[in-house]
Amino acid sequence: MRRIISSRSDQWGTTTGFIFAALGSAIGLGNIWRFSYVMGENGGAAFMLVYLAVVAFLGLPLLTAELAIGRTAGGGPLAAFARLRNDRPWRWTGWLGVVASGCILAYYPVIAGWVAHYLWSYTAGAGPGSAEVGFSASFEAFIASLGPPVFWYGLVLVISGSVVAAGVKRGIERVSLVLMPLFALVIVALAGHALALPGAARALEFLFAPTWTALSRPATYLAAIGQAFFSVGLAMGVFVAFGGYLPARMSLLQAGIAIVVGDTTIAVIAGIVIFSAAFTFGFDPAHGPTLAFVVLPEVFASMSGGRWMALGFFSALLLAALTSVIALLEVFVSLATTWPGWSRPRAALMVTGLAFLLALPSALGYGALGHLLPTPPLELIDQVSSDIVLPLSGIAVALFAGWAWPASAAMRASGLSSPWASGLWLWLLRIAVPLTIGLVLVGGLG
Ligand code: TRP
Repeated sequence: MRRIISSRSDQWGTTTGFIFAALGSAIGLGNIWRFSYVMGENGGAAFMLVYLAVVAFLGLPLLTAELAIGRTAGGGPLAAFARLRNDRPWRWTGWLGVVASGCILAYYPVIAGWVAHYLWSYTAGAGPGSAEVGFSASFEAFIASLGPPVFWYGLVLVISGSVVAAGVKRGIERVSLVLMPLFALVIVALAGHALALPGAARALEFLFAPTWTALSRPATYLAAIGQAFFSVGLAMGVFVAFGGYLPARMSLLQAGIAIVVGDTTIAVIAGIVIFSAAFTFGFDPAHGPTLAFVVLPEVFASMSGGRWMALGFFSALLLAALTSVIALLEVFVSLATTWPGWSRPRAALMVTGLAFLLALPSALGYGALGHLLPTPPLELIDQVSSDIVLPLSGIAVALFAGWAWPASAAMRASGLSSPWASGLWLWLLRIAVPLTIGLVLVGGLG
């Protein structure tokens, strides 16, 4: 069942254009904020090793499967599965990804708000905090306050919601096409500076020389799976949606490799920057979700022209984060325009309002609600979505592609020309991927 494509114009003209768009959705706070904090909490190099293996052996087959499903069936992240198999439970496969997107929407805008606050303080003055108070103390005071964190994520949601309501995502995509390469340049320049800091040698050892004890902890593997899925954007229906616009001749494997290599490269370079600074300025690598935010101002303060670098860095990061919030809102807006059939502006207003309420506990969790819960809500939701919802959704997608889809159709849709490669791909999805994720899930939670 090949989708009939009504016009050439809803397809990506070139592989490069598609890869840029896909990298735009993959690269975001996940590469900077989340990769560094999760790696810091999970032993550094051991995590890095497991992460690379997860991306190659679980991520790439899944990414290819999502693109193949999307390209064959079309219709977006929910309908595509039902078009290929309309019986229960298979037709519900896409829903886990929607649940994951909902969880992420409940805290991602708050982190994007932190970035917006930083961008503002470098624009209006010399940056957040000061040498006297300490960057760390001023950031803790910021997230513990009542108004500012709510104001900044509210602003993030208003901007993203307006873009979704107006349906002008194309314009944003064009801007990010320019800012993304700039972002890559700034990160590479920052890495050059960071490698000259006195803590760089220890950082490189932390990142690239595994301690074997961390490799024996099941939690490291579960964290790597959750982080890989979050950062690449797997098991959330993103690539099923993207696949719907892919021309038949494009190689899914090549596109997939470009996406995971690009996403991982940015994360690793950001890791070098953040950990060089952490070891130089005396921060614990296992500092938690605020790591990047307390360490980066130190990096900028330590370099000449640091304020300009900070402006470039935080404006690109904010744009990367905004495109992610827009994509996350869009999942629910497109659902609400089908059922209950609201108009786009109305759906955007309702979804954005709901997202504001959903994210409120995350924004207040370090201050007003701080003493009510043992774990801040932001960290709790982040953990549940990456340790439970995303792995479950990954298992569901692998089983769907491996078993629900007739093997010959799936192998043809993968576009892998040699029978050897498409057979390997199919058996990875049938057995290796779901079994590995399942075992890691049981081990990591237990
Ligand atoms: N991959 C994005 C990042 O690394 C985050 C993300 C998660 C996302 N789910 C998404 C982006 C859905 C777009 C759509 O920051």
